Amino acid sequence: MTSDVTALGDYQFFDLKPARRDMHEEIVAGLREQNKRIAPKYFYNEQGSALFESITELPEYYLTRTEMAVFDRYREDLAVVIGGGTCLVEYGSGSSQKIRKLLETGQPEAYMPVDISKDHLQSNARALHRDFPGLSVYPICVDFTQPFELPEIANGWKRVGFFPGSSIGNFDPADAVIFLTNIARNLGRGAQLIIGVDRKKAADILEAAYDDSQGVTAEFNLNLLKHLNEELGADFVVDEFTHEAIYNEDLGCIQMYLRSRKDQQVNVGTETVEFARNETIHTENSYKYHVEEFQALAEAAGFAVRSIWTDDREWFAVVLLEVQ
Ligand code: AVI
Repeated sequence: MTSDVTALGDYQFFDLKPARRDMHEEIVAGLREQNKRIAPKYFYNEQGSALFESITELPEYYLTRTEMAVFDRYREDLAVVIGGGTCLVEYGSGSSQKIRKLLETGQPEAYMPVDISKDHLQSNARALHRDFPGLSVYPICVDFTQPFELPEIANGWKRVGFFPGSSIGNFDPADAVIFLTNIARNLGRGAQLIIGVDRKKAADILEAAYDDSQGVTAEFNLNLLKHLNEELGADFVVDEFTHEAIYNEDLGCIQMYLRSRKDQQVNVGTETVEFARNETIHTENSYKYHVEEFQALAEAAGFAVRSIWTDDREWFAVVLLEVQ
């Protein structure tokens, strides 16, 4: 890198001005389908993001804790991957705790958090810039689920992508291949990607992780309806729906639903939607993978698997991929 990266890291914000789909149109279209559905991105208003943080601390939700333990266990290997001369690109900047661990483990010179949510992105990025004084921080505001290019400032460093938390599981496998193909192009040949993947395991463990005894995941799922009430002036009566999380063995994924307790009508802005008793809204898929299945998926997207790091119980994998 030729620019003067001094003891005090650089800071620059890149706003790629993501186009936003009209929320009302998208929600009504999903609720008009034969099998009603709402995209999981609508979980994450302020309250939803706070509830998700609480989920990550639940005894049943082993994913976050296990992934962090894998980072600890393989810190020496990770330190090599994200050593000096590295620009670490994080897709989705919601996992401050994880990125802090990685920044402490390795010594990247630059960190590029990529996220659609401008305020959240900038406040996280500024906090990291303050707490890691030698680090250059370049937040990029963009919808990273769509193809985009990294700014030129990312040239000259070894690029390493970071996509933790098994967020890849929230894409259907075909969409996961498309997404990872975009990420491979975004990072460029020879770049690496550290990605967290939740592994297949017994249904009762999975179902407990998504339907915890304290009811936090239920609140997270139901908060979606509160979000629609606030954002679109909808009139969902939240208590008239129940949370459900079922492991679909055939698909290898947890499916979350909101089930209507009774026949009811709900107004969503100018539209009225009918619900029959027991009818569901599908709100999320969370795919679980055997390591070989994930390897095939990553290869289809143009990556080679370089390392697979896992925990004692082999419940979660942190996979190091390289763009071919
Ligand atoms: C963000 N994502 C990886 C979480 C998951 O496990 O699929 C979202 C979540 N949904 C319910 N609990 C957590």
